[in-house]
Amino acid sequence: MIATLFHKLVTATLPYVPRSIVWRFSRRYIAGTQLDDALRTVAELRTTGCSATVDVLGEDSTDYERVEAARDLYLNALAAVNRQSLDCYASVKLSDMGLRFDAGHCREVMQQIVGRAKELGNFVRIDMEDSSVTSVTLDIYRELREQFDNVGTVIQSCLRRSEADVAALLDSGPTDIRICKGIYVEPEEIAYTDPDEIRDSYCRLLEQLIDGGARRVAIATHDPKLVEFAEQTISSRGLRRDRYEFQMLLGVAEHLRAELVARGHPLRVYVPFGELWYPYSMRRLRENPQIAGHIIRNLLIPG
Ligand code: FDA
Repeated sequence: MIATLFHKLVTATLPYVPRSIVWRFSRRYIAGTQLDDALRTVAELRTTGCSATVDVLGEDSTDYERVEAARDLYLNALAAVNRQSLDCYASVKLSDMGLRFDAGHCREVMQQIVGRAKELGNFVRIDMEDSSVTSVTLDIYRELREQFDNVGTVIQSCLRRSEADVAALLDSGPTDIRICKGIYVEPEEIAYTDPDEIRDSYCRLLEQLIDGGARRVAIATHDPKLVEFAEQTISSRGLRRDRYEFQMLLGVAEHLRAELVARGHPLRVYVPFGELWYPYSMRRLRENPQIAGHIIRNLLIPG
């Protein structure tokens, strides 16, 4: 009860925290503002046995200039990853590529990015955003999948529709899916809101994907219970290492990450970078009231 009240208070106060202070506390979740920062982080992760996926921070673009800038950053990132022989692919948000104001242009830009990744022997994953774009995101994934074999997307276990979406995807072609709980707040009519229901749905989706023959499943979670379930499922199915990987966010659950690597599982870390770090940081901090609370306390009780 007190924890919930504290969480609510912290969430309400966060927007008033100066950006410089948010930046200081967000550094653990973000590689930096420049591509070189991300590449350095990816190389460091390699020394801990992890691969990576880079994400150019940004969402809900409202003009072509921003879309082109984000696309070019991805093309540069893919080229640099290739030059430096890094084990790293790209994760892209369609709303950053203009989905919300010109879906046709967004499709063209995605073809350019996935096409360039294909030429370089690399891979692109389409992140999943809020439920207003779930259907169109899956449509664009399907279209790209008809043309390219180096593209995947994400399914959120909080959405009630996800089992039907997975069934349709498995029925219609080779499927490469990252499962996550889902970060967006969705209405109860379309989403599970109880943490146990979201977990149960996650477990069902994982089995559905593995047993349904998905080409690869990316298990994105820091939840120890889900990690345990996933390890049991992988072992009981004798799943080969090229059919799954665990995924975690930069700066989160590093201890669990190291344990999974030590137990021999492939693990990829999501590495966000870019000038548009503020909205991403606020989301991470809202999810982690302990750190956010620490910030607020520092503000209220300086020194
Ligand atoms: P849960 O939230 O229960 O966290 C389990 C434990 O992990 C917590 O108790 C805490 O210890 C730790 N933890 C979690 N988040 C933390 C944080 N920010 N800081 C510190 N500790 C933290 N969502 C989406 O809607 N679309 C997407 O495309 C993606 N993509 C994506 C990629 C990858 C690689 C990951 C790991 C996650 C996503 N997500 C996402 C986010 C996902 O939906 C979800 O919000 C977070 O992963 C948190 O859920 P967990 O499964 O980790 O459980």
